[in-house]
Amino acid sequence: MVRRRDSVAVVVAVDLGRLEDTFLPAESKKKTGSDTIFAWYGRYLQAKALGEPAINGTVGSLLEDDGALAVNSVVMDSLRKQSDIDFSSYAPLSGLPNFKKLAAELAVGPRLASLQDIGLHSDSVATPGGTGALYLSARTMLAIGDTILFRSRRWSPYDTLAAECGLTIAEWPILNEDDGHEKVNLPALESMLENIATSQQRVLSWLNDPAHNPTGISLDSEGRDLVLDAFLNCARNHPDIGVTLFLDTAYAIYADEPYGWSETIHKKFSWAEWPENLLICWGFSASKSHTIYGLRCGAIVFLHPSEDYVNRLSEVCAVTGRGTWSLAPRLPQSALISIHTNESEAHAWGEEKTRLKHLLSERRRIFNAAMAKSDLPLMPSDDGYFAFIPCDDPVAMAEKASESQLYVVPLSGGVRIGICSIGSNQVERAVEILIDAWHSLTE
Ligand SMILES: Cc1ncc(COP(=O)(O)O)c(C=O)c1O
Repeated sequence: MVRRRDSVAVVVAVDLGRLEDTFLPAESKKKTGSDTIFAWYGRYLQAKALGEPAINGTVGSLLEDDGALAVNSVVMDSLRKQSDIDFSSYAPLSGLPNFKKLAAELAVGPRLASLQDIGLHSDSVATPGGTGALYLSARTMLAIGDTILFRSRRWSPYDTLAAECGLTIAEWPILNEDDGHEKVNLPALESMLENIATSQQRVLSWLNDPAHNPTGISLDSEGRDLVLDAFLNCARNHPDIGVTLFLDTAYAIYADEPYGWSETIHKKFSWAEWPENLLICWGFSASKSHTIYGLRCGAIVFLHPSEDYVNRLSEVCAVTGRGTWSLAPRLPQSALISIHTNESEAHAWGEEKTRLKHLLSERRRIFNAAMAKSDLPLMPSDDGYFAFIPCDDPVAMAEKASESQLYVVPLSGGVRIGICSIGSNQVERAVEILIDAWHSLTE
């Protein structure tokens, strides 16, 4: 209802549903967005402000033991000394040329040269974060209405991205309860790939590995080999179908095998022929590796035997980027180029990265050791920022933990514990609280 007061229109009450009907098409009306992670982080902050001894297991950023955001000072220094042009100007649509090369090196790792030696080519397009790379793959490699393949547990924006791109989702289980590899349910993966390859023109699958969010799971070389074989066989069995495996390596830098996929791929294609309908992509993210979450720096990196084709893919993705976010910020690209083309800066960046990795590994060691003494069904927790406890009522579990001042995030199927944000000297207390919460709900 609108009332007039001195010729100014004042809205005193709105019928939100009616306004939505008036303004929004059906696909927009479906969107709801109470962000669970930020809501629980807010509760932690509130408890802290009230003087409680609250433990923060909520955020997806690496915090120092004193709770401050961990920032790699080499990156901050490099950002501050960039030229006015790099602060102010647009980057080329697909990214600064030296950044495009660097992104491939950072994503693929030291094996890139050997992969090139066996006849593979790479190209990349700068994106606003790894999320941009995910989006580009979904928007350009599948048609609206197609199905994308995910694992059964995943970072929830995967679902949002799929919805934004008009895709439906198929899943294969993240763990294997049958015979075979503990983390690869090969028959399930093969059957999903076969279903998709026989019902649409292209296959695209995202695999967040190593250091999966939200569990911390990393595949070992045997697991990677099984997964790669499944995609390779799918491509061989369906030569007219484009088969794309997208490796989301957002947390790889903090894993024990950051470039394990490149090793697996190199080993395989040193003797096997790469079918031309197989494409492997990496989603590079500088958010965690260079601690610049908010600067939105990432890239999609393509690997394929045809140089012309990887260049063509870059062109296609640059057009999609142009029509979505225009282009990726220039400043972080130029800062990363400066760091990684200067031996002493690169070394200093690496030292700090190693310190942060040790911080995470130590917290995880304490966490896993304390958990191992309990009967809680912790999912394998190998690397990265998070650990995950599956449970029937994640909200009740998170609520219970919060009564003892531990704040974690209830997600579908369980609670996510941010190892990245819990100080090392609080990890054991956090585990005690989780164990008590679990038992009080299950007994
Ligand atoms: C699984 C996963 N993939 C990709 C990303 C991309 O991050 P960004 O867009 O900040 O680079 C994130 C960030 O949290 C993530 O958790």
